[in-house]
Amino acid sequence: MALSLNSRMQAAELSGIRKISNLLDHYPNAINLTVGQPDFPTPTKIKEAAIHAIHSNHTSYTTNAGLLELRQAASDFFANQYGFTYNPQTEIIVTAGASGAMDATFRTILEEGDEIIIPSPIYTGYDALIKLTGATAIHLDTTKTNFIPDPQKLEALITPKTKAVVFNNPSNPTGAVIPNETMDGLVKVLTKHELFIISDEIYSENTFEGTHRSFAQYPEIRDKLFLIHGLSKSHAMTGWRLGFLFAAEKWAKHVLKAHAHNTLCANQPAQHAAICALNDCTEIPKEMNEQYIRRRNLVYHRLTEMGLPTIKPGGAFYMFPSILEFNMTSEQFVLTVLQEADVAFVPGSAFTPLGEGYIRISYAASDDQLEIAMNRLEKWIKNWRENERHIVPDSSLI
Ligand SMILES: Cc1ncc(COP(=O)(O)O)c(C=O)c1O
Repeated sequence: MALSLNSRMQAAELSGIRKISNLLDHYPNAINLTVGQPDFPTPTKIKEAAIHAIHSNHTSYTTNAGLLELRQAASDFFANQYGFTYNPQTEIIVTAGASGAMDATFRTILEEGDEIIIPSPIYTGYDALIKLTGATAIHLDTTKTNFIPDPQKLEALITPKTKAVVFNNPSNPTGAVIPNETMDGLVKVLTKHELFIISDEIYSENTFEGTHRSFAQYPEIRDKLFLIHGLSKSHAMTGWRLGFLFAAEKWAKHVLKAHAHNTLCANQPAQHAAICALNDCTEIPKEMNEQYIRRRNLVYHRLTEMGLPTIKPGGAFYMFPSILEFNMTSEQFVLTVLQEADVAFVPGSAFTPLGEGYIRISYAASDDQLEIAMNRLEKWIKNWRENERHIVPDSSLI
């Protein structure tokens, strides 16, 4: 038999974000605003907890679900922050990042032919994993509703094939935060239908106004909710690969098999670091948010001055302005600005086709870098407007 690969894996693509960041080697002076991670180092106390764990020889496998002490810390953290509880013995799994929780959840739930609804534009990690299971992602368009999923539009997309709905709140790439009334409306729809809910709340601690509201705060959907979490963003721990899945025991015991057969368990020193992060570093996200809020205001102000239509985001560390005016695809825009102005963004098309016509700007960068990037962009736009306005916009992009 000829050598052949799994056709779904062959068809899969690496993230569109990587395509741009790989190009950056050729632009050594470019300001890189493509990055989807905090620009802060992991706090010293957390690093020391891991170093201590290594010196104490806590370097073996742990139980598949992770150290009970960490599951307890995660349970306590969310109970204190948001008032919902998950049993650390049976309802919490420590995973290799939120990505590990997502993959194990999709593989546990989805089958060939299933449909899964995702408000979009959205983080691309989901589509790739969903396709590998043989299920189909159905994108709920949020571009006409300020990037907030509309409950009626959600209900209109539900078919007998719909297995689940995925939410990401606050959102990557838009920074949108679902208002409480809309959450109530979404939960009403979700309660009416036999659907799983997968809620990726990895940016929960990066909420700038008021407090984050979790889907786990609604007891009426608890029984069908898979809550995905992690410390990558809240505690600047992207490289530690530490995440969590919270789900009712009847589902969690099956997700545990998907997780165990793939990773056995999460990295043990990172688990010790995470115990420290959750128990002793609860102020860290607030300190980072002070910086993000100032940077968000700076970038939002500059983009608005430049006349780029932008919605002021309420969380995460991204902004998603429209670039329709420039009569280019978002990829062409990003490549042109990189070549001509030495600033790197991510094309909106990297976040499902509904992201076409936008770019993602990460403001997880220093004030100085953001100022320089905005100056360069402003100059490029001014020049483009003065010289190229005569081009008739391609209506297929609108
Ligand atoms: C919405 C969203 N979910 C999950 C992840 C991955 O998180 P982790 O690093 O914990 O796997 C990212 C990373 O950018 C993200 O933006």
